[in-house]
Amino acid sequence: MSVETTSKDVIVLGIETSCDDTAAAIIRRAPDGACHILSNEVWTEHDDHAAFGGIVPEIAARSHVERLDQTVVKVLLKAGISLDKIDAVAATAGPGLVGGVMVGLTTAKAISITHGKPLIALNHLEGHALSARMTETAPFPYLLLLISGGHTQLIDVRSLGDYRRLGTTIDDAAGEAFDKTAKLLGLGQPGGPKVESAATGGRADRFDFPRPLARRAGCDFSFSGLKTALRETAENTDPRTGQDVADLAASFQFAAARHLSDRTQNAMEMVEADYGDTARHLVVAGGVAANCAIKSTLGLLCESRGWKLVSPPAKYCTDNGAMIAWAGAERLAAGLVDHGEDALSMAPRARWPLAPSTEGAAFGSGRKGPKA
Ligand code: KG4
Ligand code: ZN
Repeated sequence: MSVETTSKDVIVLGIETSCDDTAAAIIRRAPDGACHILSNEVWTEHDDHAAFGGIVPEIAARSHVERLDQTVVKVLLKAGISLDKIDAVAATAGPGLVGGVMVGLTTAKAISITHGKPLIALNHLEGHALSARMTETAPFPYLLLLISGGHTQLIDVRSLGDYRRLGTTIDDAAGEAFDKTAKLLGLGQPGGPKVESAATGGRADRFDFPRPLARRAGCDFSFSGLKTALRETAENTDPRTGQDVADLAASFQFAAARHLSDRTQNAMEMVEADYGDTARHLVVAGGVAANCAIKSTLGLLCESRGWKLVSPPAKYCTDNGAMIAWAGAERLAAGLVDHGEDALSMAPRARWPLAPSTEGAAFGSGRKGPKA
């Protein structure tokens, strides 16, 4: 690990292929930490997967093979930059669907070797964790609520590369719960945005869904009880009118937002005990952070405790190449990059926790796999 820091601009090409989005971006990081997103392209093809009711890993990997080179060419052209002008190439090396990660990482390795540029093999979750720093003010340390399709975690982001996990989901991830809700209500995919728009015309107080883990201390999450409650209520409301669907979506979204807020409040108490007044930024990132109802519930929580809510614009909450390029640039600027053989020998990882959990964290039953 090299430790030198840089006082010049760094330009990084970022590649993201860990799920179904084929994404690339070029960013320039100024020595004062300012981020300039020179180009950012995301190629999403939900129709390819629609007939199967969810993302098919094999189809996703094939799409990345077909689209990634064009996407990289496009971001280079849009940024007006050639590969010999970049300082490094960063790519997601996991966690994610391993076939897709393989495509992005191998492409980045090829660029690294043929153009003699450092390769930065990144944890996808670090991309989300640092994404707010591209466009917002989010000084270290801060509390991160990472809510995506595969992960739901509360992380104490102490500094670049120094993360402590305070809580995680014991079953489904938040985005997964939205996707399953959309499927059950026949709204189509991607579930999150469909549920959010269906909820717009609905009454959030019509159905009283449970408050998961209400009697349990700590910051873990659980969405399986909510999912069951929604399914049972939907079955009892059959046939369903358009208004019923809107009310179900709104009531589910309200309960999910309340659960995220409840557990975040517990994490805030832990962080306040550790840092006092210094770390009062709550950063919300990951695809589910695009949800306006969730953001406004968290906004109220922050307001009540004197915290500041920080969230990147929606297009940088969902998977994108800019956040990968940015995390690479932050590492490069801080000298936190492996040069040479080590990075090039990095294998794609399906599982890769970003942070160790807090000692003695009270984890319950449930799956602790990739979602942890
Ligand atoms: O971060 P992301 O793009 O990919 C992962 O790393 O998982 O997150 C995708 C997830 C999906 O489950 C999607 O339904 C959810 O984020 N999502 C939303 C919204 N937009 C995307 N969930 C709730 N409301 C939204 N507006
Ligand atoms: Zn993601």
